[in-house]
Amino acid sequence: MEDYILQVKNLKTYFYMDNGTLKAVDDVSFNLRRDETIGIIGESGCGKSVTASSILRIIQNPGKTLAGEILFDDGEKEVNLVNYGPDSKQMRAIRGKDISMIFQEPMASLAPVYTIGAQMMEAVMVHQKKKDKKAAKKLCMEMLEEVGMPDPEQKFNSYPHQLSGGQCQRAMIALAMVNRPKILIADEPTTALDVTVQAQITALMKKFQKEYHMSIIYITHDMGVIAEMADTIAVMYLGRVVEWGSVYQIFKNPIHPYTRGLLNSMPVLGQKSDKPLNAIEGNVPVPLDPPDECGFCSRCPERTEECDKSVPQILEVEEGHFVRCFHCQGKRNGGEA
Ligand SMILES: Nc1ncnc2c1ncn2[C@@H]1O[C@H](COP(=O)(O)OP(=O)(O)O)[C@@H](O)[C@H]1O
Ligand SMILES: [Mg+2]
Repeated sequence: MEDYILQVKNLKTYFYMDNGTLKAVDDVSFNLRRDETIGIIGESGCGKSVTASSILRIIQNPGKTLAGEILFDDGEKEVNLVNYGPDSKQMRAIRGKDISMIFQEPMASLAPVYTIGAQMMEAVMVHQKKKDKKAAKKLCMEMLEEVGMPDPEQKFNSYPHQLSGGQCQRAMIALAMVNRPKILIADEPTTALDVTVQAQITALMKKFQKEYHMSIIYITHDMGVIAEMADTIAVMYLGRVVEWGSVYQIFKNPIHPYTRGLLNSMPVLGQKSDKPLNAIEGNVPVPLDPPDECGFCSRCPERTEECDKSVPQILEVEEGHFVRCFHCQGKRNGGEA
């Protein structure tokens, strides 16, 4: 049997708006093994962040996770996070301890009115049984050094606004890592950074993964970053996983027209920057009371009549490779239906 640390099954998170129901996450399933990195990819508005927030149970009104399971196995027992309220004792014990999250914008997790040290100490003291301040500070200092924070002793006593952008990013990672989480959710953590810092941050995450046997959910809209980071890829479009497989399968044998569109729009090494990219035409629609159809059909170059009549099932096209498209059947097992 597979040793999964997290299994997301048929997850649905909707926002109940005045003008209708916005189906941000609509029947999403994926599994995460120990020490594995899953990449979730898709354009802006596809439901990546809502998926992450659903796992951490931080969805706020008018949003609600109304169906599905989030099975988390901490190594001793398996619990279904969907059964725990956002403010439950159980979720407060898991969030920031077993499962941590980092964001594109460090100020989403750093509080402006407390020093970096105070925030890290709080995280350690709340979650770790020992109440020894000296030991807690030692942990914090070690972590600040590990993330490559310059002059850690001084930064420990600094407020976020006294740090540069890159240092804030490192402080956020130190805060997320200080309790050695079993799962790190990284939501576009390097999107706003230049390529050099981006490479440093991804290298740091890989190092932590090896050292602490951590699983990672890496969210991005950048196929290049995902190729480097992920073992397995979930391609999301309009609240659904439309393709799911190993990095090798997704890059060597992409089947969903959306996945192929994303790959085609990747910048090619050596290509002149003024050359327009082969971007997918149109935009991700808002899934407000969406019709029963393949969500991608409005932009799909391969659409046929059946595509706007119902939602395609997700089917296994080769071992471990799943696709949600009416036209994938003919492509199963290398062409044989
Ligand atoms: N708090 C919210 N209230 C209403 N709609 C939301 C909220 N958060 C996200 N959405 C909607 O849910 C959909 C998915 O959003 P999101 O998960 O943030 O996309 P991504 O992270 O892939 O860019 C979008 O249509 C977005 O507008
Ligand atoms: Mg997002």
